[in-house]
Amino acid sequence: MKVFFTQKLLEWNKKLNKRAMPWKGEKDPYKIWLSEIILQQTRVEQGWNYYLRFIEHFPTITQLAKAPETKVFKLWEGLGYYSRCRNLIATAHTIFNEYNGQFPNDYNKILALKGIGPYTASAISSFAFNLPYAVVDGNVQRVIARFLGIDVPVDSAKGKSVFNQLAFDLLDKKQPGSYNQAIMDFGATICKPQAPLCTVCPVAARCVALKEKRVESLPVKEKKIQKKTRWFYYLLLHFGKKIYVRQRVEKDIWQQLHEFYLLESDKRLTIEEIKKDARVKAFFRGKQAVIESVSKEYSQQLTHQTLHGRFIEVQLLKEPQPGSEFKAVTYHDLEHLAFPKFIITYLREKNVNLSQ
Ligand code: ADE
Repeated sequence: MKVFFTQKLLEWNKKLNKRAMPWKGEKDPYKIWLSEIILQQTRVEQGWNYYLRFIEHFPTITQLAKAPETKVFKLWEGLGYYSRCRNLIATAHTIFNEYNGQFPNDYNKILALKGIGPYTASAISSFAFNLPYAVVDGNVQRVIARFLGIDVPVDSAKGKSVFNQLAFDLLDKKQPGSYNQAIMDFGATICKPQAPLCTVCPVAARCVALKEKRVESLPVKEKKIQKKTRWFYYLLLHFGKKIYVRQRVEKDIWQQLHEFYLLESDKRLTIEEIKKDARVKAFFRGKQAVIESVSKEYSQQLTHQTLHGRFIEVQLLKEPQPGSEFKAVTYHDLEHLAFPKFIITYLREKNVNLSQ
């Protein structure tokens, strides 16, 4: 499996990979470093000319180290993330002063330079010095997760170590530079995040995700979903001895459970605002209604959302038409319907008899 992947990828790179970039095949560590720093937070197309202008102005790292900072910053202008430029200058000085202008050919020494993390250190080590270090970023993780069908979240601590190890296992130790460039380009052009080109993929024959129809669902991310706050204002519509309920069918919390007439808001509403709400106005138009009570505020914490709300008891003197999904039931009937805990808490406090 792993040998197959590595060989097919290298073959694809040699024969079919048409991605052209000015730094491709470059052996000068200075130019590789420069291109990798630019590509850290910039797309290839945008970084392309910046790279060319930099090497035109500063053909060697010594020239970069000796250049006035303002000139370097001017050349960087428009690329953003200016700490990259500050680190670029600092590292040029380090190499000029401490390494005699020669880029170190040792992974740990490269990693120790300012602005260089494991990805960039691996890229420089493998491209310039043929050292066996695998590049690992989101693209590489995606390719590996799909090919091997791994659903460990890539952004978990476990995922990081699993994917780092697999990336190293898959690396061609004899030609790490070609392999690293191949997997970068493969991830960018074939095994893309959206609409990957599986029909022309060189490793499709043994791709676990493709076989198991999991291409779209891999890689898995431990999503840090932002906690959402919702306000639920429930109108308990009474007509005679009946109360109106509906079943929640939307793809949302509490699917299949029952509820009352709901006014949802993304902010806290006063009773005056509720009365003025267009939905409420439209609903009560021409009907005589008396607000009998407004409850205190209730809150509930769900995994990814915080709920707040109130219950407003409304007595209607005319039969309401809250919508066809509503049915009129008696208090006694409520016992047989499933409600979310949020509503049950209120009903229990009101001494409505509910089973369980
Ligand atoms: N992204 C980061 N480094 C790259 C490289 N050498 N080629 C293509 N994309 C890259």
